[in-house]
Amino acid sequence: MLRIEHLQKAYPEATPLRDVNAVINDGDVISVIGPSGTGKSTFLRCLNLLEKPTAGHIWIDDEEITDPECDLGRVRRRMGMVFQSFNLFGHMTAIENIMLGPMDLLGRSKQEAYDEGMRLLRTVGLAEKALHYPDELSGGQKQRVAIARALAMDPDILLLDEPTSALDPTMVGEVQAVIRDLAKSGKTMLIVTHEMNFARAICSRVFYMDEGGIYEEGTPEQIFDDPQKEKTRRFVRKLKVLELDVGGRDFDFLAMAGRIEQYCSRSQIPYKTAQRVRLAFEELTQVLLLPRLTDPKAEITVESAEEAESVWMTVRYNGPKLDVTQGGDELALAVLTSTESEMEYSWDDAHTLPNQLRLHIRAEGG
Ligand SMILES: Nc1ncnc2c1ncn2[C@@H]1O[C@H](COP(=O)(O)OP(=O)(O)O)[C@@H](O)[C@H]1O
Ligand SMILES: [Mg+2]
Repeated sequence: MLRIEHLQKAYPEATPLRDVNAVINDGDVISVIGPSGTGKSTFLRCLNLLEKPTAGHIWIDDEEITDPECDLGRVRRRMGMVFQSFNLFGHMTAIENIMLGPMDLLGRSKQEAYDEGMRLLRTVGLAEKALHYPDELSGGQKQRVAIARALAMDPDILLLDEPTSALDPTMVGEVQAVIRDLAKSGKTMLIVTHEMNFARAICSRVFYMDEGGIYEEGTPEQIFDDPQKEKTRRFVRKLKVLELDVGGRDFDFLAMAGRIEQYCSRSQIPYKTAQRVRLAFEELTQVLLLPRLTDPKAEITVESAEEAESVWMTVRYNGPKLDVTQGGDELALAVLTSTESEMEYSWDDAHTLPNQLRLHIRAEGG
């Protein structure tokens, strides 16, 4: 079991890990996902002490590995690491790469290291490549050798940092198949990956990293199908988001219309949908809301999924309770209802902007 408490890692320029807390049980297969730059690699490197944490504690079973007295070499042997870029020794054959660690660090004899190395090469389907040098292997084969090399140290935990993202797409499958077999065999693993279908297929838990920590965790079903927190939802649904702040009556309408324009074009929203988004923004702000609010304050969020034709626009505005879908300017409402297949009003007392209107804007008919 691995226990992580208040782990922090600060660099002079950035603090990717502010407060990471987690318990990893034996046999857990955990996918670590999240936007790039959120500290996923830093997290893995801190776990096997390739990076020295700035603060916090890590225990493997009852041994605190962040204790300054702790034997670094022994800790690293308990954690295998597989990198995106393989990191094999180019002047050694596949089997020599695998035998090196067990002979140097575990005191195995050459014969023992060879027998175990060949067994591992067979499990990753590469026994016939034992005497080949890394240069003579494809990317997928190199990564399978790298996995066998990590396993040769018989680590308690295997850490894999984007193991397939440097590979030609035709080779991703063979490496994923090896990782899938390992997961089934009960190996404890932490895998940073962008392949969500793969993550869903093999892992028992998912850590979504953001804001300097594990922002949300759960089973694959919880995280991928029913995320509870905003940023997780945006990430797993690959939503592109635009946020606009309307503060006061004389906000810069043209500048905001311009940002919507830019957002639609960057997100490759179809022309017709984009036109409707602009129209909805204009009717909402100029006709339905601003004239009826005494001290107007509103937040507008535009979201669209990758390759989707529709857009969600959420408008939150200040009180008192004002359901713009009821009464008000009939023409403006008609414009909205003709463009939006769904428009839903809700009121949330607890929010500083308690009125909320959600529009689902579709390209065609709907
Ligand atoms: N060795 C380092 N020195 C300074 N900054 C670093 C170092 N490694 C990572 N960072 C910074 O920490 C942040 C997180 O990086 P990283 O862990 O690689 O994120 P991820 O793997 O999630 O993309 C980034 O802002 C990165 O620039
Ligand atoms: Mg990384």
